[in-house]
Amino acid sequence: MDAPYQAAPDVHVLPNNLPLPGLGVVLPVNAYVLLAEEPVLIDSGIGSDSDQFMDALASIVDPKELRWVWLTHDDADHTGSIQRVLEAAPQARLVTNAFSAMRMATWWPVPFERVHAIRAGDRIPVGDRTLRAVAPPLFDSPLSIGLVDEATGSFFSVDSFGALLPEPTQDAAEVPHEALAGGMVAWSTADSPWTHIVDRQSFGQVLDGVRRLQPTRIFSSHLPAASGTSIDRFLQILESVPDAEPAVPPSNEEFQHMLAAMAPPEAPSQMAAAT
Ligand SMILES: [Fe+2]
Ligand SMILES: [Fe+2]
Repeated sequence: MDAPYQAAPDVHVLPNNLPLPGLGVVLPVNAYVLLAEEPVLIDSGIGSDSDQFMDALASIVDPKELRWVWLTHDDADHTGSIQRVLEAAPQARLVTNAFSAMRMATWWPVPFERVHAIRAGDRIPVGDRTLRAVAPPLFDSPLSIGLVDEATGSFFSVDSFGALLPEPTQDAAEVPHEALAGGMVAWSTADSPWTHIVDRQSFGQVLDGVRRLQPTRIFSSHLPAASGTSIDRFLQILESVPDAEPAVPPSNEEFQHMLAAMAPPEAPSQMAAAT
């Protein structure tokens, strides 16, 4: 995983940038720490670097102080360290869709007595502020649930507004416009392929609902931190997704090329021995 960074006075990012071999892009995967009076962890990273994730989390807040773990949905890129986090954070309640909790119980012993089931419109007081559950406009799981911090206007948008990017960065504004638009469409068509069959007018109403949130900051699970001033541009990009070229997964041949691109370069000593 990458080094954590602070994206707002009260928001720290626990970032990962997964390279997509052979494609020349990375997929950001973010968890967030919201330093409310009752600290909140939003998602728990990927599992393959769990030790680093736990260290990064502890560098921002003592897990024993965590009061809430908001799990946006139970996909693997959001649940990587969820069991370890709950073990390290005995005070924390797990806020998630009831069905996410029940589905996760098929692969780890979810402490149901600590689960606070959430759905769109619900509000959770976290000491100095209230968090409102919001359905993200695009999603790859119907169990997805984002949130708006009513005190600051920060919008945690789950998979929505994700983008495949040329390189890791900590601020979406640093990504050239064309690269960001192309990367967001590429991610959105792959992650939410159902957009191609939606009624355009109804979809527009969903996007208008997001516009009305007037977020001050946008914290996507798959994009560097972004200013709320980007919201109109982002929504314009999402508006184009239903009519964009549908995403096609790699063929087996393309997959083999990706694997070859992942192979570590031969060490110099081995190269010398081979010649
Ligand atoms: Fe997802
Ligand atoms: Fe995701």
